[in-house]
Formats: sequence, C-alpha cells, structure tokens
Amino acid sequence: MKTYTYKKSQELFKKAAEVIPCGIYGHFSPAPLIPVTDYPFYIDKAKGSRFWDVDGNEFIDYMCAYGPMVLGYNNPLIDAAAEEQRKKVNCGTAPARVMVDLAQEMVNTVDIADWAFFAKNGADMTTFSLMVARAHTGRNKIIRLKGGYHGTAPWMQSPDHHGITFNDNKDIVMGEWNNYEALEKYIHEHKGEVAGIISTPYHHPTFADNELPAKGYWKKVEALCKNEGVVLIIDAVRTGFRLDYGGSNEYFDFKPDLIAFCKAIANGYPISSLVGTNEMMNAASNVFHTGSYWYSAEPMAAALATIRELKRVNAVEKMFETGTKLGNGLIELAKDHGYNMKMSGHPAMPYFRITDDPSLMLHQKWCGECTKRGAYFTSHHNWFMSAAHTDEDIAETLKIADEGFKAIKE
Ligand SMILES: Cc1ncc(COP(=O)(O)O)c(C=O)c1O
Repeated sequence: MKTYTYKKSQELFKKAAEVIPCGIYGHFSPAPLIPVTDYPFYIDKAKGSRFWDVDGNEFIDYMCAYGPMVLGYNNPLIDAAAEEQRKKVNCGTAPARVMVDLAQEMVNTVDIADWAFFAKNGADMTTFSLMVARAHTGRNKIIRLKGGYHGTAPWMQSPDHHGITFNDNKDIVMGEWNNYEALEKYIHEHKGEVAGIISTPYHHPTFADNELPAKGYWKKVEALCKNEGVVLIIDAVRTGFRLDYGGSNEYFDFKPDLIAFCKAIANGYPISSLVGTNEMMNAASNVFHTGSYWYSAEPMAAALATIRELKRVNAVEKMFETGTKLGNGLIELAKDHGYNMKMSGHPAMPYFRITDDPSLMLHQKWCGECTKRGAYFTSHHNWFMSAAHTDEDIAETLKIADEGFKAIKE
C-alpha cells in the first residue's frame, strides 16, 4: 500500500508561519499530530465521509472537522436549505423568520428545552450559560471539572496559560469527574455561593481514556443541584446530536437546567445554541450577550435542515452502529497483531488507545501510519463518526489499519 507525502502542505505551512501566528493555531495546530510528517496540514476539498488535501491525497475522515460534519461534507440537502435562505437574506438588520422556526425545532427536539438562544461557537454558549446561572442565582462561583474543555475564553483556561491572569478565573472552582462526594462537600461547605456546575455529559479529555458516568452519578448531582439551588449546565458542544436527539443527558437519564450545543447542529455551518428550562428563561432574557453574526440566517436554515435530516436518516443509531463496527474491528485486528486496543467513550465519538505502550508513542505512530495510508486518525483526541460513514468505509479503514499494525511492528 502506497504511503502519502505532503510536499504542498509543508510548503504552505512555511508560508503560513510568516503571516499567521503559529501558522495553524488552536485545535488544528499540527503540534499534537505526531509524527507531523505523517499528517496533511491543508485541506483542498471534501465530500461525504472523505476529504482531499492540497497534495491530492484522499482520506476517510474520522475527525469530521472535530465534530461539525455529521451528515457528510457538502450534503446536498443541507446546502440547498442554506442556499435558499442565503438568496433571501443571511446577515440582515433584523432576525429572519427561520430563527423562530429553528427555536421551535430545538424546543420540540430537546427534552428539557423550553427556549433556545443562538450564537456562533461553542464557547459563546458555555460562557452565556455561566452568565445565565449567575443572573438566576445571584451567586458567583462556578464548578467545572479537571480535564473538561469548554472553549478558550479566559475563564476556561488555567492561570498558568499565556495571556491568562488569576483574576480571569477567580470564581471558577475545579472539581473532578465522577467524584460526587467532593462536589457535595464543596457545595455544602460553601452554601449559597455556587451558581452552577458545568460539565460534559461524559468525560472526554484529550490524551486519555474517556470515562462514562459512574452508576447513579448524574442522578445524585441532579438532586444535589435541585436541593442547593445550583444551576446544572451540560456542555454538549461535542456530544450534542451524536448520542441522543433529545439531548446527550437523556442518553444518561438525567435532566440539567441548561444545555450548550454547537458542532453537529448544522453540519458545518457556523451556529451554536443554548437551550434551557422555563425557570432559566427570565435570567437568559436579562443577560446581554450578542455578536455581529449571531443572527445570520443561512446557518439557521442549515441547522433546521440538519436536525430534521438527522432524525429522518436515524443518524444517531447509524453512528452508534458504524462506530461499534469500527471499534470491534480495530480491537480484533490489534489482537491478531499481538496488541491490545482499548476503545472508550461512546461509539459515535470513540477514543482509541493501544495500551501496550502507556507513553502513547506506539499509539501515535500507528495513527500516523494509518493516516498516511488514507484513514485520518488522531491519537490525542476522540474521533467522530458521521451518518455518511458506510460499511465500505469501515472495511477499507480496517485494511489500512492492518497495514498500520504491520508498519509499527517493523
Ligand atoms: C466539549 C466542548 N465544549 C466547548 C467547546 C468550544 O467550542 P468552540 O471551539 O466552538 O468555541 C468545544 C470545542 O471543541 C468542546 O469540545
């Protein structure tokens, strides 16, 4: 099997490094892609479950733009809905009608939702959720959990990061995933001080196995929040519409007060949403939070079409199935080659790790070997399934993975 080279990507990156800080910053930065010589840096085009880089190499994509692609790149139905709205108006002087239709669709789809608010990025909504929790309770402190990612606003980052000060997160308290006792202790010791808890519905940190909630964890947290008047915020930016149409909390059988969505909501069109219960509506109305493009109607039309299409094609069930097939296939293959592959998290967003080398070096090498043969795998982050991934994609991926195992043995 031929392995890819990335001459044009590397040339472009050199030019980029002169005019763009870091060349490629943030989550697309090549820094965690190891070895970097195994990865493309620039994309040329994409269709369905695949993308092509600037060197013309073709990849089956298991990162799905880090989540937004859920129905396949350039999905004709979603693009047509977006285009129809764009021709009428996208960015105008008042909201378009589609905003109300989309809010109604969110309320009808997401179990706890009595209202929906729209913005662009996940961090717009996780930040808004804190503001709503503080406005609702009149309290300052927010508990977030170690290893949880909610975006890059200063309150979400550790004070030892560049550009962050201790004041930026002075009312942010760190808890621990699945540690109910510590949460309870802190909230009881700081009665009347905690406005909210923000957490993903299951733990999906980078560079580590993902962890599902312990039995009874969420029910206990939900009851604690109710009893203590603490707002329970679920960050479903990554999990939203991949685990359950009604909210990824429904998958784990509990009810938060607020849920932040982004990524899979519009198949790649820029939009995010915070939904909440009636009790939160007054606080959400009182908080001032907006942006130049938050009323753009084209992504709203795309979101409306995406949510309906996800349900029509049984996308959640499909992603669970293909993710499970991929996982079982990789675990078997690894065994055949004498390795142990661990799959963690949810099958629609699986995290894989070859456990034989805890340093992750072997796993990183295998991911790189597969990528340069056409299955784009990262080693530091959970992967994403989409409804566009087919059984043929999985079969082709397993052949590539087999070659990857042979290569790491050598
Ligand atoms: C769980 C989670 N929350 C929040 C965010 C932030 O979203 P954004 O990068 O769109 O601001 C992300 C982004 O990856 C995420 O995975």
